[in-house]
Amino acid sequence: MLADKRILLIIGGGIAAFKSLDLTRRLREQGAEVVPVLTRAGEEFVTPLSASALAAQKVYRDLFDLTDEAEMGHIELSRAADLVVVAPATADLMAKMANGLANDLASTLLMATDKRVLIAPAMNVRMWEHPATQRNLATLQGDGVLVVGPDEGAMACGEFGPGRMAEVPDIVAAVVAALSDGPLRGRHVLVTSGPTHEPIDPVRYIANRSSGAQGTALAAALRDLGAEVTFVTGPARVAPPAGVRVVKVETAREMLEAVQSALPADAAVFAAAVADWRVANATDRKMKKTEGEGTPALEFAENPDILKTVSRMGEGRPGLVVGFAAETHDVEANATAKRARKGCDWIVANDVSPATGIMGGSENKVAIVTAEGVEDWPRLSKEETARRLAARIAEALAR
Ligand code: C5P
Repeated sequence: MLADKRILLIIGGGIAAFKSLDLTRRLREQGAEVVPVLTRAGEEFVTPLSASALAAQKVYRDLFDLTDEAEMGHIELSRAADLVVVAPATADLMAKMANGLANDLASTLLMATDKRVLIAPAMNVRMWEHPATQRNLATLQGDGVLVVGPDEGAMACGEFGPGRMAEVPDIVAAVVAALSDGPLRGRHVLVTSGPTHEPIDPVRYIANRSSGAQGTALAAALRDLGAEVTFVTGPARVAPPAGVRVVKVETAREMLEAVQSALPADAAVFAAAVADWRVANATDRKMKKTEGEGTPALEFAENPDILKTVSRMGEGRPGLVVGFAAETHDVEANATAKRARKGCDWIVANDVSPATGIMGGSENKVAIVTAEGVEDWPRLSKEETARRLAARIAEALAR
């Protein structure tokens, strides 16, 4: 999948650097040529010899290495690549990139390149969550830098949380997506997915059975066609896909906010199962069961309708807005009415009555309701449904 692609791999100084050796192998297995660049700190974690042996290439380390300049200058080195990958991207490297520092070979290459840059951040949880890193991340994303990970989990430093470098197969998927010549290249597509959780008190919430499987498959399919995907997800059972920008939210109101700040987009697909109501009298303290006081009365307030808000936003509305309709009866009639009510362009309708096994299952059977009418699709895996839908979206945006 990466035949004839040349990847400049900048290996920063973090314990995750050892994974970049495996990354080198996996990228080469896909047919890519990998040109390794080691930062000074990177050399503390992997040796130039290992990086060079696995890449079957010279490893570049020093800006002032005249032999390198004679062979290939730093400008040329950064431009001869099809993609620049920084893995691990340390807090320090991200800070340099965000601020345009160029005081060593890696940072100079990053400033001099005219190619896309993909970073795989890896650092301690506190360092990742530090406002400075988050500011730098936002700056880099604004500059068009692609980001994969970090993952959440146990870290070498003994802490737990976000900061682990994305796993190698996920970085490879992000590289493939970044280099894809697919029809959605250069397009930004927003996808919402998963359920929302609406708190009752700090330990209880109201939710629904959405697994996030269809939204996740769709985000991956759009990514595979070359789209830049922003994936706004509630607490789903299925892990978000690699190679997309993931924004995690809990409630419907947070989801709306995340969607609005992710715009503009060329297309937006609302696959999330948003709770229609939230608990209006949710409390900050855990509700206590008190003998003889009976059961608490929950009051509900209506949540914002994200699909409707975006469909009717006028200026800045994505060119294509797609909603989902999970119905248990009269699917087509209800979906057609929903399309009109929401003001979206398409409704992807599915029958989620328990007999179909679709909710939480691996297959889906949908009907697409557009201005032209209703199209019935056969029962397919959620992945195949996603691929067909992504292809339809690409077709619509090409018109
Ligand atoms: O109104 P209903 O929930 O049936 O509509 C389903 C569609 O509307 C889905 O695309 C869903 O993501 C979207 N929706 C939304 N915000 C809500 C409720 C539904 O975006 N509050």
